[in-house]
Amino acid sequence: KEYTSENLSYKLNELPQKVLNVLKSAGKMADDEGYSAYVVGGFVRDLILGVENLDIDIVIEGDAVAFAQKFASQINAKITVHEKFQTAYVYIDEDLQIDFVTARKEYYEFPGSLPIIETGTIKDDLFRRDFTINCIAMKLNGDEFGKVVDFYGGRRDLYDGVIRILYNLSFIEDPTRIIRAVRFEQRYGFLMDEKTEEFAIKAVKSDVLDKLSIERINTEFFYMLKEKNAAKMLQRLKELGLLKKAYPEMELSDQLINLMEKSDNQWEDFYIGLINKKNIDKILIYLLVLHSNMSVDKVHASADRMRLKKEYKDEILRFIEVKDLNLPALVAEGNLSNYDVYSMFTGLSLESLYVISIMFDDRVRDAVLVYINNLSQIKTEITGKDIMELGIAPGPEIKRILQAVLKEKINGKIFTYDDEINFVKNLLEQEN
Ligand code: CTP
Repeated sequence: KEYTSENLSYKLNELPQKVLNVLKSAGKMADDEGYSAYVVGGFVRDLILGVENLDIDIVIEGDAVAFAQKFASQINAKITVHEKFQTAYVYIDEDLQIDFVTARKEYYEFPGSLPIIETGTIKDDLFRRDFTINCIAMKLNGDEFGKVVDFYGGRRDLYDGVIRILYNLSFIEDPTRIIRAVRFEQRYGFLMDEKTEEFAIKAVKSDVLDKLSIERINTEFFYMLKEKNAAKMLQRLKELGLLKKAYPEMELSDQLINLMEKSDNQWEDFYIGLINKKNIDKILIYLLVLHSNMSVDKVHASADRMRLKKEYKDEILRFIEVKDLNLPALVAEGNLSNYDVYSMFTGLSLESLYVISIMFDDRVRDAVLVYINNLSQIKTEITGKDIMELGIAPGPEIKRILQAVLKEKINGKIFTYDDEINFVKNLLEQEN
């Protein structure tokens, strides 16, 4: 049976009161307007799975923009309207926002194009979506509140753990869905059904990816990097052939996958070792790992392809330079001064330092921690002003002298303000 009248209002009733009230008011207003209103998509999927998700999408069989305007003014919420897409975004508070959209039919002029949109029914609206598990709706209207609308077997696949496209051309029309399929698969521990996977592989082998703008691929790719199981997702994208095609510079070896997983697993240990606690940018960590086996040329090509912001690209380039120094050998030789260690690591972000700490052996990791906790904290007490008072004119000379003081201090040869002043005096004397 493709459509049942199962009622899941008891699931809705478990939502935080504030959310429930908002959904009920929307249902009541739909009654008043003579419209049908449905919650759809990820919200319903996660509600059934028992996963928290307050990203609410409401489909209106009727004018969603007018509806949302009336609704927002009734509950005194801010609203942003996209007339062109017949959508409106209602901001209730920091943790509750709702997207309203007019039920629509979509079709694609050519693979990878943006869809052409016409007004439609809830059934049309669900059919334009990616996977059956994302095509379950629940009605909000008063006397049918919580009634499930499931034309495409979404609940069955949700219970069976299956990611299934709705129609054979789905991936051809929108290849970004391949990345989404992998994301949902690994996020929930599901599997693509056999046909769906075949269609994904076929789509990759065809030329549809070339027709798609890299920006659209990047958007989905970065959503993926934000997920917990990103390493597994990348592995799947590799298996499907998408990784090579979309990001040809990336060589996702088993070693790289391991390093990504290690970066997930070892952060807590590393964090415990930090004297000054600081959170990290997980995306940057993954990007560093993904570029860690590339030449400088490839890093440039890849970073440009991924449209990485300049700060990310620069950081990756600095990281590459340092991690190629043959750190295990340098550290093992044991004749690095503190200042050598300082010079090696200075300027690197905590993210780069962390990745370096897990890439090599324990000695390298310890050197990184010594740098972060100790060496990088050392500052000279004297300033440029003190040096000018010793007769040096403003200019680059001041910087050079301060650097020399810092070196002595980091190497543990001087300690106090007076030590620093005396060191400068001696240095100037020697140099004259
Ligand atoms: N959708 C689609 N094809 C895409 C992107 C989105 O069909 N390329 C549909 C999906 O059915 C999805 C809905 O649009 O349910 C909303 O998309 P989005 O908010 O990106 O997805 P969620 O399912 O909410 O996933 P997430 O939990 O990752 O936010």
